[in-house]
Amino acid sequence: MRFENKSALVTGSGHGIGQAVAERLASEGAHVLVCDINGDLASSVAESIQAAGGKAEACAVDVSKRDDVQRAVDQAVAFASRLDVLVCSAGVMERAPFLEETDEHWQRVAGINLQGTFLCGQIAARQMVAQGDGGRIVNVASNSGTFGGRGRAAYGASKAGVINLTQTMAIELADHKILVNAVGPGPTLTRPEVQGELMASAQNRMPLKRYGLPEEVASVAAFLASDECSFTTGHVFAADGGFTVAGIMEG
Ligand SMILES: NC(=O)c1ccc[n+]([C@@H]2O[C@H](COP(=O)([O-])OP(=O)(O)OC[C@H]3O[C@@H](n4cnc5c(N)ncnc54)[C@H](O)[C@@H]3O)[C@@H](O)[C@H]2O)c1
Repeated sequence: MRFENKSALVTGSGHGIGQAVAERLASEGAHVLVCDINGDLASSVAESIQAAGGKAEACAVDVSKRDDVQRAVDQAVAFASRLDVLVCSAGVMERAPFLEETDEHWQRVAGINLQGTFLCGQIAARQMVAQGDGGRIVNVASNSGTFGGRGRAAYGASKAGVINLTQTMAIELADHKILVNAVGPGPTLTRPEVQGELMASAQNRMPLKRYGLPEEVASVAAFLASDECSFTTGHVFAADGGFTVAGIMEG
């Protein structure tokens, strides 16, 4: 029960990794505000947390819009009287060949993945600073932010931006005892339809030879969001089956 009497806001928690994080934090006692651009998904996750005996509310929010994010932080504070933890999982992974990338698509991906992380981090941190007793921020990056990948110009650059933003936030927010880290998922099974050539190619590059489960990424995020994480800030923790450290694996 690491999050007893704590309040957490989790973006993109209507589905996938964010949902697993919301469920994990709630199962350990947190009041969780389940935020997603899809309000129906957010409501259904909040209801299932409540049905399991947890404390949750839902909020429909587009993380790329400042007013939406401010409304979500205000709701989290109204719900639990304070905000201790922010986890930014809202994101879109949309591929496009570099030569065909459009301004509109680039701005959409960067707007959600990078600007959304900035807006949520800034507005949540202002609340934590006003409270005066620190906090934890966990950004969901990606191994695509540490190396190139076909079709991932906008996505990979947005996640590289999230990694650098995490480092700068860690430096500036340390003055306020707010620790900021990122989890870097590798290929994670959030969509059952993922299979075929792409899946085989990714698995062959991973020492653990399988996709991760959202719950496995959530375990790492929960540690980074907890008071157990007390002397670590500005880092990216890969939850990727060894993908980012693997070189030649044959022989
Ligand atoms: N699944 C993977 O293999 C993988 C790998 C590396 C990183 N990631 C990252 O993990 C995060 C979660 O990915 P996932 O696989 O769980 O995705 P997902 O599609 O299962 O869930 C993402 C959620 O974010 C919500 N969302 C999208 N745009 C939003 C917006 N503007 N405002 C608020 N909510 C919004 C969606 O409605 C959805 O419920 C993303 O940031 C993604 O880039 C995923």
